[in-house]
Amino acid sequence: MKTRLTEMLGIKYPIICGGMMRLAYPPLCAAISNAGGLGNLTAAMYQDKSEFTTAIREVKQLTDKPFIVNVTLLPSIGVPPERYKAYFEAIAEEGVAALELSGTPLHRYEGGVYFELLKKAGVRIFHKVGSVRHGKSAQKAGYDGVFAAGVEEGGHPLNENVATTVLTPRMVEELDIPVITTGGIANGLGLAAALCLGAEGVMMATRFINTHECRVHQKVHEELIKRQENETTLYGNSIGLQGRALLNESIYKVLEIEAKGGGLEEIIPHIAGALGDEIWQEGNLNTGLIAVGQTIGLVHDVLSCQELLDQMVKEAEAALSRSLGMFQAE
Ligand SMILES: Cc1cc2nc3c(=O)[nH]c(=O)nc-3n(C[C@H](O)[C@H](O)[C@H](O)COP(=O)(O)O)c2cc1C
Repeated sequence: MKTRLTEMLGIKYPIICGGMMRLAYPPLCAAISNAGGLGNLTAAMYQDKSEFTTAIREVKQLTDKPFIVNVTLLPSIGVPPERYKAYFEAIAEEGVAALELSGTPLHRYEGGVYFELLKKAGVRIFHKVGSVRHGKSAQKAGYDGVFAAGVEEGGHPLNENVATTVLTPRMVEELDIPVITTGGIANGLGLAAALCLGAEGVMMATRFINTHECRVHQKVHEELIKRQENETTLYGNSIGLQGRALLNESIYKVLEIEAKGGGLEEIIPHIAGALGDEIWQEGNLNTGLIAVGQTIGLVHDVLSCQELLDQMVKEAEAALSRSLGMFQAE
């Protein structure tokens, strides 16, 4: 496949893994890159520069292909500035191919010093955004592309709640830099649709959880296969950070607290980060929030990353030629 994204990054398939706190470790990252996509290493799982640099080097030992690093820049939640400095310096020094930046725009953070540092180091910088307004601002500032994140996505969709099917073509109408559809994509039909909407590729996260290389408890894999597209919900508007999570005991408690006007202190025990490993590694599925997107309805099995990517591209090709056939019919 050839798109502006594959050309820019030298990858075989225009399929990128999105940042996944507690899941996007070096083995998964390298497996996706080895399979022809762009694997993701999520910085927030590492406490300092040395830990993070070690993880980047681990990926490099497992693959000679490019990969992307996610930095979720949210200074307001109390992450010390030294941590972000460490991440950006390590990315520049290690010559990582690309950065997925979510949250605060990097060109506005600390006077744009890290934005310039990464640009000079040749790192391709992408901002994950949920609105055309933010996309335009990214283009103006000199980002290499945007991840257009629709409301279907797992993680933290922007509270403007625009769906992928509208957000992608709106971004394409307004921007010249590459637009990559994010949220709601889990198979070849989604990839074909995104390309038809004008995207240069797709970013997925939820689907990658059900791969052999994503180290989670067997119960997690089984749960994602069992659940349907209508079994996630949005939450968090009352605390100023919208998220999407799977329906379970914890999310019902959070929704109840929000409905009663409860604040962050009441919500925190149900969403606290430490609970994450209990879910993913122990398989205790009611001990916190499970950040997945509506694409769980499209997850029916566990595949290797290679099987998943090859299958997606084959399916996309078949879907596109089938559609083309419709125009050529008598
Ligand atoms: C388990 C999980 C953890 C995530 N963690 C992060 C994160 O730390 N930072 C971030 O920017 N996005 C995060 N996301 C969002 C993804 O990077 C991506 O934007 C989104 O999930 C894509 O939509 P999809 O889930 O429909 O594929 C996470 C998503 C999932 C499913």
